[in-house]
Amino acid sequence: MTAQIIDGKALAQQLRGQITSQAQQLTQAGHQPGLAVILVGDNPASQVYVANKVKACEQTGIHSVLERYPQTITETELLQHIARLNAAADIDGILVQLPLPKHIDAHKVIEAISPQKDVDGFHVASAGALLTGLTGFRPCTPAGCMEMLKSIGYPIKGKHAVVIGRSNIVGKPMALMLLEKSATVTICHSATPDLSHFTKDADIIVAAVGKAKLITADMVKPGAVVIDVGMNRDETGKLCGDVDYDSVKEVAGWITPVPGGVGPMTITMLLVNTIESAQHRLKANQ
Ligand code: GUN
Repeated sequence: MTAQIIDGKALAQQLRGQITSQAQQLTQAGHQPGLAVILVGDNPASQVYVANKVKACEQTGIHSVLERYPQTITETELLQHIARLNAAADIDGILVQLPLPKHIDAHKVIEAISPQKDVDGFHVASAGALLTGLTGFRPCTPAGCMEMLKSIGYPIKGKHAVVIGRSNIVGKPMALMLLEKSATVTICHSATPDLSHFTKDADIIVAAVGKAKLITADMVKPGAVVIDVGMNRDETGKLCGDVDYDSVKEVAGWITPVPGGVGPMTITMLLVNTIESAQHRLKANQ
């Protein structure tokens, strides 16, 4: 069996078409959606991520502001910038690119963002809303993975989903979103003694650990859906995911490639959240 590829790039493009018209409608109604992106320091990976987010805004008609601050900025100064953006009428979403320098408490910074502008979905109010089934912004990467499952019409209810990774950004919210759709969810992580025991039983595998080609064909049940959140370099320096794509695609039913899988969907969900926030703001001001 050769897996069907879930083309994240194509799905992202399709969704961005809808986002473009929604942004246009909002702009015509008097409120162009706006995203503020804060980048502290000069981490090369963060610079690339941030540039891609700003570019995606430009392409879809969302107003974006990139605020760059030196590595030496104090926590107090950063919190002042967030307070200003919380009050800015033309800003619907605030994103602080992580990681932050060690002298800044990332939790404190995230909690300073207004939950109404928390388009990353990292605020405890957003996390609590997800946990309890209330509406709120959902973190972009797991939301993108859910859109990919939706795009193939996969019936999640009653299926066994195995999430590998327990980060606040991906693993934990991913597990909750799958649970919300009535999957039976197992969360595996670095202290799980026999990973393949769980993955071999999985109908859905979401790999989000950051270990190149960790998931091999012998660990996958024939026909399973394999979603690869990893973004690593292999021994030759080539970009690869947490899944050994070449071997796993011969066993899985569906698979996401790296690059061109989850990555473009993460940014797309950020745009979706920004549009949603702008729609709320316009409605509230009418
Ligand atoms: N660093 C790595 N991924 C992310 C993300 O999705 N959002 C933010 N703000 N920082 C990140």
